[in-house]
Amino acid sequence: AVTPLFDQHGRPLEYLRLAVTDRCNLRCFYCMPEEGIKYMPKQELLTYEEMLRLTSLLATMGVRKVRLTGGEPFVRRDLVPFMERLAQLPGIDDISLTTNGVLTAPHVPTLARLGVKAVNLSLDTLDRARFASITRRDELPRVMETFHALLEAGIQVKINAVVMDGQNIDDLVSLADLSRNLPVDVRFIEEMPFNGGSHEAGPASLPWNHIRIRQHLEQHFGALTPVTMAAGATASEYRIAGHQGTVGIIAAYSRTFCGTCNRLRLTAEGGIKTCLYDQGVLDTRALLRGGASDAEIVAALSDAFRYRAANGFEAERQRPLHQLSFESMATIGG
Ligand code: GTP
Ligand code: 5AD
Ligand code: SF4
Repeated sequence: AVTPLFDQHGRPLEYLRLAVTDRCNLRCFYCMPEEGIKYMPKQELLTYEEMLRLTSLLATMGVRKVRLTGGEPFVRRDLVPFMERLAQLPGIDDISLTTNGVLTAPHVPTLARLGVKAVNLSLDTLDRARFASITRRDELPRVMETFHALLEAGIQVKINAVVMDGQNIDDLVSLADLSRNLPVDVRFIEEMPFNGGSHEAGPASLPWNHIRIRQHLEQHFGALTPVTMAAGATASEYRIAGHQGTVGIIAAYSRTFCGTCNRLRLTAEGGIKTCLYDQGVLDTRALLRGGASDAEIVAALSDAFRYRAANGFEAERQRPLHQLSFESMATIGG
């Protein structure tokens, strides 16, 4: 087995979040404006070949888990053949996916065959009209088809619901209620300012923080019983008496997970982010296309990871006017 690389603060490198595209077929208003974001031209995106090379090098440095994100991963052509090859890389034993579910259903049998353990499905409401107003596309039926196909295939499903004041508060209970008879994990996420547009005032003004979300759920379901989580997990998980599944709360914007963070992010154009909040610390595309050797790439990746900040979240909070708030989650890869 590989001994993972540790950063200067003693945190291991284990988990790669790989954004395969910055494009998306929905327009969730908390992520991007109606007109979309300024997408990268195709030739500026890493090729699958380049992603495989980087991932195999990262596997020698400790990465075992790869989560494909975007944008919407299935918007990129030939994602499935890419996943087939990813699944064969030595050292990578956990491939998962975060998807909006619009194009996913037909691929579910293949995902099961490839051994994909878990799929995180973005779903903010079960109401068709509200779905259309939040995502600006009328695609709820296809997303629900994906949801059921995943469950039938025995793939673990986590639902990601962003909690939005004045938008889907009425939906929180019905979403959480999916966990009653289904083995799903329904996770509620604090809204972060990564919407490709407007400013906001910082965590202090967040109308629905993790505390209020929990209180809201407890008012309806009674006490939530905490479940012990693995180090590096984003969500606090809870059991509701009598429910098969669980609910989770991701305090993405009011709490820091930095202390146990084991992840590295690779953006679609090859930027390495050692934190959700940094602006990219290494341009792998330039290295790859400049003819760097494997050893040179490993050295650059090691440096990037080794010297990452102790707490990028705090650093972001100290910054005046939250200057990073303009980036879209689709560029960051979530
Ligand atoms: P697992 O691999 O299942 O633990 O997935 P995850 O929860 O890390 O990933 P997912 O793609 O489902 O993202 C869920 C939410 O957590 C999204 O809103 C992400 O932006 C957010 N998130 C993921 N990683 C981090 C992080 O390092 N910091 C913060 N603040 N939020 C994160
Ligand atoms: N705040 C919180 N979560 C967000 N996501 C996208 N944009 C935001 C935001 N501004 C979520 C999506 C997806 C995950 C990768 O990130 O719902 O499930
Ligand atoms: Fe697309 Fe996800 Fe952004 Fe919605 S949140 S627009 S589904 S990338």
